[in-house]
Amino acid sequence: MEKNAPGSSKLKLCTACDGIFENPDFFICPRDGNKLIEAGRVDRLIGVMLNERYRVVEQLHRGGRTTIYRGRHELMGRDVAIKVLNPEWVCDQISIKRFQQEAQAVSHLQHPGVVTVYDYGFVPSGQPFMVMDLLPGETLHTKVVQEGPLSSARFRKLFWEICGAMAQAHDRGVVHRDLKPANILLTGIDEVEVPIIIDFSIARLMPSSSKTNQSLTQTGEILGTPLYMSPEQCLAASIDARSDIYSLGCTMFFALTGEPPFRGDSNIDTMELHMMGRVETGRLPPDLEPIVLKAMAKNHRDRYASMDQLGEALTGKPVDKRNWHERGLYLAGVGEKSKDQNEPPKKRKRFWFF
Ligand SMILES: Nc1ncnc2c1ncn2[C@@H]1O[C@H](COP(=O)(O)OP(=O)(O)OP(=O)(O)O)[C@@H](O)[C@H]1O
Ligand SMILES: [Mg+2]
Repeated sequence: MEKNAPGSSKLKLCTACDGIFENPDFFICPRDGNKLIEAGRVDRLIGVMLNERYRVVEQLHRGGRTTIYRGRHELMGRDVAIKVLNPEWVCDQISIKRFQQEAQAVSHLQHPGVVTVYDYGFVPSGQPFMVMDLLPGETLHTKVVQEGPLSSARFRKLFWEICGAMAQAHDRGVVHRDLKPANILLTGIDEVEVPIIIDFSIARLMPSSSKTNQSLTQTGEILGTPLYMSPEQCLAASIDARSDIYSLGCTMFFALTGEPPFRGDSNIDTMELHMMGRVETGRLPPDLEPIVLKAMAKNHRDRYASMDQLGEALTGKPVDKRNWHERGLYLAGVGEKSKDQNEPPKKRKRFWFF
């Protein structure tokens, strides 16, 4: 008999009486003796109230370590996304620490291009959860697979914005370490497409919490997704923001061609290609190729030194690292430096914050 993961169990259905049974030892309907069939899994978190505020409504995605649910803030009447560590990892201290670190890393950031986390807690059976904005839309991976590579104009705009979000993250000491098309959601705000970076599950907070981080990676464990990992990540060497620049370069290659730049027969082969293989030239638009290739340089010293530089190379404009609040003040004309010191100061608008 298959062992059920704690927190979920297989349901059995009687097609004669529509009875549903949770007992895995039932093969025959106790009511009418008919054979029972598998009716899928029941997720015991559905319907549960968390932190006395969020009701778990439905499962959106189940990954290896975590599950994402749609939830509802009952009093506010607002939908949220809830990420929960899967029950099989609840006894693994490293997984618990990483999960907590993901919430901490994201809460250091306030950028329209980074998912917002605003609550953290534990479900009744002990797994940690975090509450995030529910983002409608598809991942960059899904979009490209479904609709094909991005046009140059859309590419430049989206990646310029991603660079702005990542520039803020790096300024605040957060290295993502798992940038890839599946970790960028394309959502819409007033019909404008906006990229939002998610899944900081292996992000690294530097430097104040470097002690904690060492203990999370001290075994020389290789973390990341091989198709998008930097050469130094493949070697489990120490990494900095330039590793994210490499992964973003691979993500750019995917966005423009529909394929990752390197794909070996095994993960080890793919990692070897990141360390030693040459990127196939002639597949990218000629004006974008040098930018992507520079982001993907094997030696981190040959890459763009920062996300600011990479973003500026894409559009010629400095990236926007400001959070919503600062942008709001800027649009309202507050906090702007007068270009001409002799100009009379602008009349300031008044604000009331509630
Ligand atoms: N805030 C959100 N709003 C809407 N959908 C989300 C949100 N966060 C994640 N998702 C969905 O869930 C999927 C998986 O999320 P995420 O990348 O954070 O976890 P994961 O890769 O499954 O993590 P792990 O591999 O550790 O289990 C995303 O691709 C996206 O479709
Ligand atoms: Mg992910």
